[in-house]
Amino acid sequence: MTTLSPIAETATPASAPEPKPGILEIAPYVGGDHKAPGVNRVFRLASNENTAGPSPKARAAYAATAGEIHRYPDGHSERLRQAIGRVNGLDPARIVCGAGSDELLQLLTKCYAGIGDEILYSQYGFMMYPIAAKSVGAIPVAAPETGLKTDVDALLARVTERTRILFLANPNNPTGSYLPQDEMRRLHAGLPRNVLLVLDSAYAEYVEEADYDAGVELVDAADNVVMTRTFSKIYALAGLRLGWLYGPPAVVDVINRVRGPFNVTLATQEAGVAAMEDEAFVATSRETATRWRSWLGDELARLGLTVYPSVANFVLVRFPDGAGRDAAAALAFLKQRGILVRGMAGYGLPECLRIGIGLEEEMRAVQSALADFVGGQG
Ligand SMILES: Cc1ncc(COP(=O)(O)O)c(C=O)c1O
Repeated sequence: MTTLSPIAETATPASAPEPKPGILEIAPYVGGDHKAPGVNRVFRLASNENTAGPSPKARAAYAATAGEIHRYPDGHSERLRQAIGRVNGLDPARIVCGAGSDELLQLLTKCYAGIGDEILYSQYGFMMYPIAAKSVGAIPVAAPETGLKTDVDALLARVTERTRILFLANPNNPTGSYLPQDEMRRLHAGLPRNVLLVLDSAYAEYVEEADYDAGVELVDAADNVVMTRTFSKIYALAGLRLGWLYGPPAVVDVINRVRGPFNVTLATQEAGVAAMEDEAFVATSRETATRWRSWLGDELARLGLTVYPSVANFVLVRFPDGAGRDAAAALAFLKQRGILVRGMAGYGLPECLRIGIGLEEEMRAVQSALADFVGGQG
């Protein structure tokens, strides 16, 4: 064993502490805009939240914890995992809860990939995947999409012996497209067994298509598939930070070793249980999203804009080229009217905006503002 000398006895270190490889290559994640200075009424449609607000039951359960916040929460989120298991027909022992699904995506990355490994994702996949890859010194590898849809063959063609994780958002953010179950099976069948397939189903509760599966079937059939879910979207608890994963026992064991011992707060656990039990709230939220997504899609198409088919609570809209008519101009125009949507330049889609689907009043405001924009009325 070598004995290290105290630093004071050795030469002065050459430089200040340096982060690990990859970290300084990360462009920090920029969240959706939430302020429109000078506008009285702001419609926030930039982060795919459920604008109806949380279920009154979740709100009450959250408030009821106020007298107990001097206590640590249950470190195993036992009641919450039971509730998630009950509602989704899953074994609670194979569920891990986290501070948003973001935390779980990062923990999976940290545990299964490292310096020089490759992490595969689809070209317009969720932006956190390349960030998570770089945070552990891994190389993010993007497979091209066809028509803004995940291309299974393109993904499989990019698997190498260094591939450790494949992240797939299904439905995908920001495109709104989804991969049917048979395509997911084909993707999994083509992957080496040592590659972890992470199915990020953040928007699963919105999908009504019969050929969609959030990932349970594959998780149950294989030992290299994990599904992540969130309470930030249909359950309307984005501010509390709550997500969960369902995975093989070995992966669950690994994540439980590295996660913070109290990574889900008391108030979050209580609100989560209540939200899970309010199935009527979820059904209404889904109906609202389906109805207004379809309405807004038709209206914007009538204005001559291209609206990509979406199964989630947002739509990607393409604007024509040209100063004053393009997506950047539309983003600024909407903001002046207090309507905040998401610019897509960071995703390599500068010609598009992503618009969250909200309530009737919000959707009518978007339609009327874009009608004025396209008609040239400032
Ligand atoms: C595809 C996808 N995955 C994960 C997340 C992160 O969600 P959470 O709030 O659970 O961290 C988002 C958030 O927008 C998302 O769009």
